[in-house]
Amino acid sequence: MSVLIKNGRIITATDDYVADIFIQGESISAIGKNLSVKADKEIDASGKIVFPGGIDPHVHLDMPFMGTYSSDNYETGTRAALYGGTTMVIDFILQKQGNSLHAALAEWQSRADKNCVGDYSFHMAITDFNEDTKKEIQAFIEVEGITSFKTFMAYKGALMIDDRQMIGLMEEVKKHGGLINVHATNGDMIDYLTQKHRGEGNLTPLYHYLSQREVTEAEASERFVDMTNFTGCPGYIVHLTCEGALNAVRNATKRNQKVFVETCIQYLILDASLYEQNFEGAKWVMSPPLREKKDQETLWAGINQGLVQVVATDHCPFMWEQKLMGKDDFSKIPNGHPAVENRMELLYSEGVHKEKISLNKYVEVACTNPAKIFGMFPQKGTIAVGSDADIVIFDPNEKHILSAVSHHMNVDYSGYEGWEVTGKVKTVLLRGQIAIDNNECLLDKGYGKFIRRNKVSQVI
Ligand code: URP
Ligand code: ZN
Ligand code: ZN
Repeated sequence: MSVLIKNGRIITATDDYVADIFIQGESISAIGKNLSVKADKEIDASGKIVFPGGIDPHVHLDMPFMGTYSSDNYETGTRAALYGGTTMVIDFILQKQGNSLHAALAEWQSRADKNCVGDYSFHMAITDFNEDTKKEIQAFIEVEGITSFKTFMAYKGALMIDDRQMIGLMEEVKKHGGLINVHATNGDMIDYLTQKHRGEGNLTPLYHYLSQREVTEAEASERFVDMTNFTGCPGYIVHLTCEGALNAVRNATKRNQKVFVETCIQYLILDASLYEQNFEGAKWVMSPPLREKKDQETLWAGINQGLVQVVATDHCPFMWEQKLMGKDDFSKIPNGHPAVENRMELLYSEGVHKEKISLNKYVEVACTNPAKIFGMFPQKGTIAVGSDADIVIFDPNEKHILSAVSHHMNVDYSGYEGWEVTGKVKTVLLRGQIAIDNNECLLDKGYGKFIRRNKVSQVI
């Protein structure tokens, strides 16, 4: 099948021009003014902006966590992502402590394969680094095309690894050309504060926030960048939320160290006052928690200064019934919130429309940098001849309201209920096929493809 997108304003991380895009099969075959080609389908994109499909490199689909499973599976989660202009997600495989990495890979493949509507990849989360798991790293990078390894400095007693394991893992990953992702908060401090609050009978969601103060993240972020400096391994901090943590990265850049930073849409636009409303605050119980207004300013500035390269979601939805598992104890509320469908529209509305970031920066942090950092560029993350035809046609002026009633994520509340956004995803193409049009998904589960990733580049 061939598609011609006519007269759209094409935005990449660096360009902004009006032209036609001709797609043959799965990829872009020509871009130019007034292309005289015949296509099976023509789309008039006049007055619209046209950008690469979003890539959300931080989602948790069908994930076993805190005694339950996140409520979006690979079908509902990747479909909802497409509705919101995200054509590819990267999910996390979790190693079970004591088991091999390949056993976990097989388990995650059995849940995801043939079930995705949109494209996907995995990071491999290492929860037990030892002489056996060390031997598996090279094959993940060179055979499986999974080149990034996630570590947790928190979730003590569950997912957390210690610094000795971290350093050993970094050396092995560096040797084979991979990247270490980290959830950088101090698990011991958080465990101490959590037990203290519980012991004092302070059990509401507010105490989730008070158990994970800024210092817990700043300390771990600094320790992580020091360990990456020591080992020379490239590092990527997921869901960075606050000034203290970003300052650790700023210091690292002074010694010419490259550390990639991801923040998430919620940390840019929501703040901790949401925890003051008793159990309702459970909707935003996530780790790290929402922060202060001053941290939002730091993060927007960090994006413009090039210190924050990616805006993701950490999409990890739970039904309200699941959140109620913690109604008498904040430490039992499953951590996470839904956002994969909302990220591109919220970032456009709050970032570009409100003039906090440029259109090029928008594409850079939501599409291009995730593709570059995680070894998929230029196949993904840009609009160029030869790239996959993953394309969003977007009306920058259409206003609409976000709501659980109209969203497609498998979760019965929205963290953004009633939020008015300016800008709407109109049409989405994934590898040349029309995925979303007129608020309808035209692809079936199974179309989504596992994307093998290359070794990691340190230059973006
Ligand atoms: O609250 C969160 N972030 N839930 C998902 C797991 C993680 O830490 O990323
Ligand atoms: Zn995390
Ligand atoms: Zn996460």
